[in-house]
Amino acid sequence: MTTIQLIPIAGTRLATLDLGQGPPLLFVHGFPLDHTMWSEQWSALSREFRLIVPDLRGFGSSPLAEPPATDPECVTMAQYADDLAQLLDSLNVHEPVTYCGLSMGGYIGWEMMRRHPERLSKAILADTRAIADTLEMARGRELMAQRVLLDGPAPLVDSMFPKLFAPQTWESQHPIVLAARQIALRNSPLGIAAALRGMAYRQDMTTLLPTLQYPIQLLCGEFDAISTVAEMQEIATALPHAQLNVISAAGHLAPWENPIATNAVMRKFLQADGCRE
Ligand code: MLT
Repeated sequence: MTTIQLIPIAGTRLATLDLGQGPPLLFVHGFPLDHTMWSEQWSALSREFRLIVPDLRGFGSSPLAEPPATDPECVTMAQYADDLAQLLDSLNVHEPVTYCGLSMGGYIGWEMMRRHPERLSKAILADTRAIADTLEMARGRELMAQRVLLDGPAPLVDSMFPKLFAPQTWESQHPIVLAARQIALRNSPLGIAAALRGMAYRQDMTTLLPTLQYPIQLLCGEFDAISTVAEMQEIATALPHAQLNVISAAGHLAPWENPIATNAVMRKFLQADGCRE
C-alpha cells in the first residue's frame, strides 16, 4: 500500500510518494507521464532507500497552479527544478539526494544541477538529451500544445506513443503500453501544453556537461528512438565522471520496459563509492 501526500510548495501542491528509509532518492518522471512510471523501481529499492517520487506540477494529481486562475501557459525546466528544491525543503530533506530522472526528468535534472547544485550528490539519468530543440521541433511542440488544448491529450498520444517503446513492446501491445496511455490521457491538457512549451524553450546544456563533477550513471534503451544510444554516448563522453549502460529489449522508457536490467545497474551505481571515470 503506497500513500500519496499533497505537499505544498509556492503556487501549487505536489502529489508525492514518500516511501522507505535510508539515503534519499528523488525520482522525476518523463513527459507526458506521472510518478507511477517508477513503480518497478520503488518496489525494488524501498527497503534500502528513502524514495521521493512526485508528480510534477500539471501532471498526475498535482495541480498546475493553485488557485487554478493562476495557471501558467508555460512551465520551464528551471521552474520544475525550483519546485523540486522546495519539495525537498517541505519534506525536511536537507542532505544531498541522488537525482533519478527520465527524459524530461533528465532535462529538469540539468537545471537542478545548475540552479541547486548542493541538493544532489549523484544522478541517474535515463533516456535523456542535453541539446535544445531545433526551431522546427519547438514549432511542432507549440502546434501540439494548441491541439491538446483544443482536443485533449489523444492527438499527442497517437503521434508520440509509437516512438516511445521498443518494437517488441509496441507490437505486442504489452500492458505497459496501455498503462502509459491511460496515464497520458488522464493528464490535464493545460499541464501537457505548459510542459510542451517549457521543453521547446529549454536551453542547450552541452557546455554545462564538462563542468559537472557528480558521479552520473546514464541509461538508454537499446531501441530508444528519441534519445538514441549514440547521443547518450556523447553525453557520457562529455561528462567527467559518467558511464552509460544500454538496457536491452527497451526503448525510450527503459526503466519501465526492462526494470530487471535497469534496477541491477541502479543498485550497482548506488552501492559504489565516490566518482568513477
Ligand atoms: C519524455 O519522455 O519526457 C519526452 O520524450 C521528452 C521530449 O519530448 O523531449
